[in-house]
Formats: sequence, C-alpha cells, structure tokens
Amino acid sequence: MGTALVTGATAGLGLEIAWQLATARHDLVLVARDGERLDRVAGQIRAAAGVHVEVIQADLARHDDVTRVAERLTVTGADPEDDRRPVGLLVNNAGFAPAQRFVAGDLDIELDAVDVMVRAVMVLSHAAVGQMVPRGRGAVLNVASVAALTAGGSYAAAKAYVRTFTEGLAVELKGTGVTATVLCPGFTRTEFHDRAGLSTEVLPDGAWLHAADVAAEALADVRRGVVISTPSVRYKAAAALLRAMPRWAVRAVGHYR
Ligand SMILES: NC(=O)c1ccc[n+]([C@@H]2O[C@H](COP(=O)([O-])OP(=O)(O)OC[C@H]3O[C@@H](n4cnc5c(N)ncnc54)[C@H](OP(=O)(O)O)[C@@H]3O)[C@@H](O)[C@H]2O)c1
Repeated sequence: MGTALVTGATAGLGLEIAWQLATARHDLVLVARDGERLDRVAGQIRAAAGVHVEVIQADLARHDDVTRVAERLTVTGADPEDDRRPVGLLVNNAGFAPAQRFVAGDLDIELDAVDVMVRAVMVLSHAAVGQMVPRGRGAVLNVASVAALTAGGSYAAAKAYVRTFTEGLAVELKGTGVTATVLCPGFTRTEFHDRAGLSTEVLPDGAWLHAADVAAEALADVRRGVVISTPSVRYKAAAALLRAMPRWAVRAVGHYR
C-alpha cells in the first residue's frame, strides 16, 4: 500500500495517523525528537500491524535534521543499491504551541515555532512533491488548525501559512496525480496543551475532538483529494462562522492566554 512519512508520530494526532495508516497496510517512516519513544512506538506498530517501520530521530527546529528527513523523501526507488521504498504520503504533523505573549516572550521559542511549523513544512513538502510528481502519484497532508482563521498570535500566523501554502500547492499540483490536503482541526485531546502548560479545563467537553476521529476524517479526505479538511460538523460550523465574521470581531475573540 505504499510508504507514509509522519512527523510528530509519537504522540497525539501523529501517533493516531500512524496507527491508522499501519492498519491500512502502509509501511511507515516515523519522525520525532525522543528516540526511545520512537523505537517503542515503531516496535508496537511492527508487532501489531506487521508493516515495515523506519524511524528518523530529528528535531525539526534544526535545519540539518530537516535536511536528513528531506533526504529520505527524495528516495525514488530507482537505485538498485538502495532498498528503501519511495514515500507516497507525507504527513507534516509535528507542531507545538509557543503559548506565550509575543511582546515580552522568548524570541527563540517563536523562531523554533516558525522552523518546525513553517520552514520544515515547506522544505519537506518540496522534497516530497519533487519525487512524487515524476512518479505521477502521491499525497501531502499538512496539519494546520482552525486557529489559522483566528488572530491567535504567532501560532495562528504559522497555521495560516500552512493553510494558504497547502492551498497554493494543491492548485499547482492539479493534474499531476499528486494531491495536497491541509488538516484544520479544532481542540483535540492530545499532549499538546499539557506540553505548553495551557489549561484545558476552561473549555466545555463538547469543544473537544478525539484524535482517532480527526485522523480518520483527515485520511478519508486525503483519499478523496479534498484540499481543506476540517473534521467534525462542530468545527466546520466554527470555521464558516470565523470566515463570515468581520476581522474586528475575530480579533475581539482574543488570544491564546
Ligand atoms: N491538539 C490540538 O488541539 C490541536 C488543534 C489543532 C491543530 N493541532 C496541530 O496538530 C499537530 C499535532 O499536535 P498534537 O496535538 O498531536 O500534539 P502532541 O500530542 O504534543 O504531539 C506532538 C508530536 O510532535 C513531535 N514534535 C514536537 N516538536 C517537535 C520537533 N521540534 N521536531 C520533531 N518532532 C516534534 C512530538 O514528539 P517529540 O516531543 O519526541 O519530538 C510529538 O510526536 C500540531 O501541528 C498541532 O499544531 C493540534
């Protein structure tokens, strides 16, 4: 069924996407920073799903690490000395919330956010489509957020980049056999908020999505070639409302914290 490379594959949405792809008989390349956790997840998926799983330990805030991951995406399968299979699906999922105000915040955290959620997405997408288009097939799934439509600080700005970039990529890829989809989830129960020290108690239960549902809807949308994937009726309605609201009203809704 082909090979998928998933960044941020050891937790939350990426882990769920990896499991669902493995269950659908895709081989995997898993990318994250924590090497022990990567090996543990890879072992569990191999044992349960019987698929081939490679791991690449990489910090996507580091440019040389991104280059190593990009090199894996350029494999075409044509070199008889290289038994690695070409990647048919790239999932740019790794991300985190800077969770600070910009003005007095740590600039290094802001720059890491741009490196992981903007620069890495751009570099890895470029490497992937460069290999997929000549083969006439493949797909890129970039994970943005419904926050892309808000004025929620630099996180929202990074996700707005991912959303617009992926739409542009989809336009360019038309007729090539390669597709680009941007996933725009709402609040989803993962490690994301805990890692950033963001409180989850302020939101009602009904605001939360389950990672399994988000992953299933996203992968179904990739298979159908949908460009903007917004899982759940709730968040489709929220996105429609945000697009219809005047920007002053969107700004009034506020900031992350
Ligand atoms: N959860 C939500 O409510 C929500 C809503 C909308 C969009 N999103 C987006 O969904 C994506 C996945 O988030 P999640 O909620 O699943 O978060 P999560 O549970 O915190 O998982 C994040 C994953 O990304 C990896 N990662 C983080 N920084 C990395 C880096 N510098 N280099 C390589 N890997 C890195 C982590 O592994 P290591 O720590 O080992 O590197 C982990 O595997 C993100 O792009 C996020 O912005 C989340």
